[in-house]
Amino acid sequence: MTTKKQFFTTPIYYVNAKPHLGHAYTSIATDVATRFKQMDNHETFFLTGTDEHGDKIVQAAQAQGNTPKEYADQISTLFQNLLPKLNVKNNHFIRTTDPDHINVVKKVLSKIYDSGDIYFSNYEGLYCFGCERFYQERELTDGKCPDHGKAPTVIKESNYFFKMSKYQEWLINHIKTNPDFIRPAQYKKELLSFLKEPLEDLCISRPKSRLTWGITLPFDEDYVTYVWFDALVNYISALGYPDGELFKKFWADTRHFVAKDIIKPHGIYWPIMLKAAGIPIYKGLNVHGFWNVKGSKMSKSIGNVTDPVKVTDIYGIDSFRYFLMREMVFGLDANFTEETIISRINADLANDLGNTFSRILSMNLRYFDGEVKGYDSKIEKDKGLSLSSDASLAIDEFKKAMELCEFHKGIGAIWQFISTMNKYIDKNKPWALAKDEANIRVLETILYNLVEGLRVVSCLIYPIMPQTSFKMQKALSMEKENKGFYTLDEISAWGQVKKGTLIAKPDSLFPRIEKDKIKPKETAGQTKMFKPALKEEITIDDFAKIDLRTGTVISAEKIEKSNKLLKLKVDLGAQTRQIIAGIAKNYNPDQIIGKQVIVVANLKEATLMGETSQGMILATDNKKKLVLSGFDKEILPGNPVK
Ligand code: MSP
Repeated sequence: MTTKKQFFTTPIYYVNAKPHLGHAYTSIATDVATRFKQMDNHETFFLTGTDEHGDKIVQAAQAQGNTPKEYADQISTLFQNLLPKLNVKNNHFIRTTDPDHINVVKKVLSKIYDSGDIYFSNYEGLYCFGCERFYQERELTDGKCPDHGKAPTVIKESNYFFKMSKYQEWLINHIKTNPDFIRPAQYKKELLSFLKEPLEDLCISRPKSRLTWGITLPFDEDYVTYVWFDALVNYISALGYPDGELFKKFWADTRHFVAKDIIKPHGIYWPIMLKAAGIPIYKGLNVHGFWNVKGSKMSKSIGNVTDPVKVTDIYGIDSFRYFLMREMVFGLDANFTEETIISRINADLANDLGNTFSRILSMNLRYFDGEVKGYDSKIEKDKGLSLSSDASLAIDEFKKAMELCEFHKGIGAIWQFISTMNKYIDKNKPWALAKDEANIRVLETILYNLVEGLRVVSCLIYPIMPQTSFKMQKALSMEKENKGFYTLDEISAWGQVKKGTLIAKPDSLFPRIEKDKIKPKETAGQTKMFKPALKEEITIDDFAKIDLRTGTVISAEKIEKSNKLLKLKVDLGAQTRQIIAGIAKNYNPDQIIGKQVIVVANLKEATLMGETSQGMILATDNKKKLVLSGFDKEILPGNPVK
């Protein structure tokens, strides 16, 4: 039974610009953390939304000739529409222009005002219009705003102030005594070091003579509240603070996700606001680094602001989610380039995950017509064939890492297990065992363990790649009804795949990506020279003389004394051929087993290094590296290629 609850939030994003890669990352990371907690038997609530008040929005709206509300409606819709495109499953989307939110902001302001922690005073300070806040001298870099690179303007006005200084010692103590309050550790250190200096009280109002697009202070009609005082309250207004059921149910265990740019409002203002309003403090603040694109900060002037919708359209949702979670070490900055996403897709997804999946299922299909035969426990024990403890280790490591938002490590634990499964195959050589009927029980036991291993992998990847998880589970005939997921407890129980289960023929999970093929616009218009020159023209009848067939490589080994040749056994449906291929410099035997290739099936037999070769497989030379031809879907061996 689910008893534990956890509340997950992203920042609410400003509507002054369209969503980009950075926003997509935080939303996906929060979605991954939420899905993981669901696997860990938690009932969760996931909130995201848009921050719609303030100078920035007024300026952006004016630039477009719209009212702030019209403008906010347009951009907020873009943020809302992005979520399903990233497969982010939020429970609620809040907008700071929602009337319920506005009421709660007023309630919180009144509560703090009544308790005496808000006072009115004259103030002269350094104001950055970009950040919409006053700066202290020591926070500036060479006298300029560190985020906007501009010298702030001196502003003199009467305003309302929040007595943050009163709570400084309390906050330092809270951070120190709650080790999980701010993660990762470097950000906790950063905040504590900031808190070594006296904290200034926070100016929480803006006179309406300067700004009207905000929430009016409940105790002074002439002022609107400072955007952060409005925005941070979204986390409780969305839950129906103070009496809402959701607030009662979820607030106690709240986990905020933000990037390092907004650590101060979340790590200093917000806990102090909660304390002053008599509301329990949130449990944890998870802070990640920044995505740069091609080595630079995203900026319109550089032209490297990356649209997450375009990236998912090209590479697919799961590949994008995987890339983001695998590439960024949570807490540190990361770099986005198309080359890195392509190489992650090809190496980690197409090769490691995809090939292992099809390699195992193809063997099960070949040796047992797709039926899971069960295992012999005595043989398993005597021959040390169980993968159970490797799976347990992967699950434990995954759990530990995900708990700490170390997503790249969690993924690493799954991939370590995939590598173990491949080594297990290479060591036990099912193709060799399959030659002798006497080995049938051993072969069955090996395949059972491998299919079980795939079950574990399919379940663990769920938070990161939900669609791929379902696709694998469908092939393994273990889909949960209503697209559910498996809990960590269910995953941990070894031996879940039932004997007699029929396993479908798998589609390729992740086709390899060739960069040239996905950027048609960039290459269009360029006439590519063929190197070498084209051969003499042939007729269709000439071409028909070549019998091209689909084949599946079922075994591969190096040929002694040759660093170029591999000896392959290729399944052509009705028969198996031995083919000697000159690909050893670019393919290891274990990389190529299970691969589907195109075979010239009517080529005259030849002898190479003393070995008979009954055909040829097609490949091309790409920058001095051989690349095998193949298909973007799983196909039956022996099909003619036309
Ligand atoms: N509206 C405030 C947040 C209020 S929360 C109560 C705000 N909005 S924002 O649109 O500027 O969003 C900032 C957040 O967007 C970052 O904290 C981070 O989550 C995400 N990112 C924006 N750019 C980013 C990168 N380049 N890299 C990673 N995430 C970044 O601040």
